[in-house]
Amino acid sequence: MSVTIPMAHVPTSSRMVFAHRGLNHQAPENTMPAFEAAAGAGVQWIETDVDIIADGTPILIHDSTLDRTTNRTGGFYGLTRADLSQIDAGAWFGRDFRGTRIPLLSDLVTFMNEAGVNANIELKAHETGKEGSLRLIGSVLKELENLDPERELIISSFSSLLLAHFHEEAPELAIGMLWESKAMYYDWLSVLEMVGASYIHAEDVDLSPTRMDAFTGAGYGVNVWTVNAPDRVNQLFNWGATGIFTDTADRFV
Ligand code: G3P
Ligand code: MG
Repeated sequence: MSVTIPMAHVPTSSRMVFAHRGLNHQAPENTMPAFEAAAGAGVQWIETDVDIIADGTPILIHDSTLDRTTNRTGGFYGLTRADLSQIDAGAWFGRDFRGTRIPLLSDLVTFMNEAGVNANIELKAHETGKEGSLRLIGSVLKELENLDPERELIISSFSSLLLAHFHEEAPELAIGMLWESKAMYYDWLSVLEMVGASYIHAEDVDLSPTRMDAFTGAGYGVNVWTVNAPDRVNQLFNWGATGIFTDTADRFV
């Protein structure tokens, strides 16, 4: 007997424009001001990166250290939620953003519900081992319970293992498999099927119409990263891309 699983938060949008780490040229990447700037510019999709700290709280940050985007150095896996109030994630970008905090996933979920925006949430390739990786999945799913049903969502990762586990836990959510062009091999269809993906998140580098046809012909949506040139954005949509991740999302709304 086959069981039909009701889908939740499944994208219905076409030609999705994802603000890569928020509107990162107007505000520090992966912070609430960057997400607010995206929504304020009329962008409907936010891309962000999630990992967990020591107490299991999911936070939004791209790198696996604090060095580049905060006033602190070193990793974050040892931090607790209380420590986050001491970390400035905005001053590096500009004086106006001093005091900006590393956001929690729960902050983003609240914002999505209030502002009516959608998100691609990228699970970072968690570095503390299997237990931490499974905890990341569990913590993210717990936060997503608070997402309004009409909000659209894609869960992506460069880690096929994380995605496969995530899909087992939440088969109703749409999955995007992230690939660097150089890391995509002839088994890409097998990987997509084993992961349970609906989308390929393909790197723009070396993406040709032939490759695009192979992906779309196999029934997958194709969201391309990271594309900023308007003529390339247009070309990719003409080839059948379902979305683009861009640093200049405000130019494409
Ligand atoms: O999801 C697209 C893009 O964000 C993937 O690369 O390194 O910016 O997370 P990265
Ligand atoms: Mg990302």
